[in-house]
Amino acid sequence: MSKHKLIYQIYPSAVGDLNDIATLIPRIADKIGPDYIWLNPFFLSGWKDGGYDIIDYCKIDPRFGKMKDFRHLISVAKKYNIGILLDLVINHTSNEHEWFKLSEQHHPKYKDYYIWLDRPLNWKSFFGGPAFDYSAARDEYYLHLYDQCQPDLNFNNPAVVREFKAIIDFWIKEGVAGFRVDSANVLAESNLRKGHIPGLPGFFMYYQKPRTIKVLERLFAGKKLFTLAEPVGGEFFSKRKFHELTNRAFNASFNVGTLDIADSFFSTRDKVLPINYRRWFKKLSRWAPEPKFSMAFESHDAPRAPSRFNTNPKILAMLQFLLPSYNPCIYQGQELGTLNADLSNNIQDYPGVQSRQVYRRLRRQGKTKEQAIAIVKLTSRDNARQPIDWGEYVLQSAREESVLNFYSRLIQLWRSDPVIKDGALKVRKITKTGQFDFERTLKDKTYRVHLDFTGKTRSTLTDENGETVITV
Ligand code: GLC
Repeated sequence: MSKHKLIYQIYPSAVGDLNDIATLIPRIADKIGPDYIWLNPFFLSGWKDGGYDIIDYCKIDPRFGKMKDFRHLISVAKKYNIGILLDLVINHTSNEHEWFKLSEQHHPKYKDYYIWLDRPLNWKSFFGGPAFDYSAARDEYYLHLYDQCQPDLNFNNPAVVREFKAIIDFWIKEGVAGFRVDSANVLAESNLRKGHIPGLPGFFMYYQKPRTIKVLERLFAGKKLFTLAEPVGGEFFSKRKFHELTNRAFNASFNVGTLDIADSFFSTRDKVLPINYRRWFKKLSRWAPEPKFSMAFESHDAPRAPSRFNTNPKILAMLQFLLPSYNPCIYQGQELGTLNADLSNNIQDYPGVQSRQVYRRLRRQGKTKEQAIAIVKLTSRDNARQPIDWGEYVLQSAREESVLNFYSRLIQLWRSDPVIKDGALKVRKITKTGQFDFERTLKDKTYRVHLDFTGKTRSTLTDENGETVITV
């Protein structure tokens, strides 16, 4: 079996319901041919954080259909040899989840399902603002690393681990091929009584603790699944942390620190920083040869890459598939070269909690409404959550030179050419203005790649005879 796996990510609400997704599968299979499709959460949810505030892990949110629709989707995917990956959001539930409501009431079974303290600590949440909130019902404070509506589960409680083992088994029975694990490295906290490190309140009290690794091992032990981690902590995520996380529990892992260097610090996207190409390319070169690394430049959590980098989508595609790339992940619409949406000037129209929080923070910092909304428009992850024009698929399929056909050809090369698949990487030149030259060598064959993000020179792939294979 090839160790190369291609993942295709679908954010369901940008597509429609589960049946709409099923009808897209033949097209995606034809042009992209992924091994797996990862679906963002479609479970019953309070829908305050785009489905990541789950009320019931084994129920489908009515907006997406019923269990029979999910079974249909699985069967269509099977026809095309595509495995379905679900999003396992286990760091937190919605505050509307029954477990939390019972926990608030001191129910003997559920009272320790969440992190409760009699006084708040000074920890900060990822979306900004304090990470502890008061529950009047319980007269105590609960931890939420994300939004207030997302209380953190207590992974020091074995009953919580058992709940998730059962949830995983439930979906395995329904035929899923694996899971993408949300916030995979911050599940368990330590030292809840301490916690002030100037500048990073709380972070090292929950950042990839030994207990988290044990929990993950227990959850997936002995199961035949494809597991993909989403670890937080961009700049702090070292190779050592990566191996510790992936060794036993995961087949592959993202690293948000490689999405792009300027914009990845703790997801607090309230500053538009210039892209530091030198740092980014160097970082990618260090990570790309890792067999379990999943290279992704787009997701539901970041604005569209061609807009962020102000570059030709084909050059980004070359970067993703011509560097060593064992588990690349394509985000829906990326293969069409989709750009940022023209988002509203009114913050009330933004669906995501994060955009609103960033806006409020900017206003508190003294920015005018116009300045604040201009930054949100550029940096908001809501840019990537807009409906895709799937008619574009048909149009681009017919156009030889389209971005879609470019992706298609590149992926075929990535699948079939031994040098592209397994060649060693040698970096030749990196400039801070966005030029990147590297070689891939296998046995006596060396390919050369020249990428130019500014578009001033042509980006090319040249084979061992000096013949141009690709040029943009
Ligand atoms: C992950 C998801 C993001 C979500 C957060 C909280 O980072 O990718 O969309 O807001 O977790 O669940």
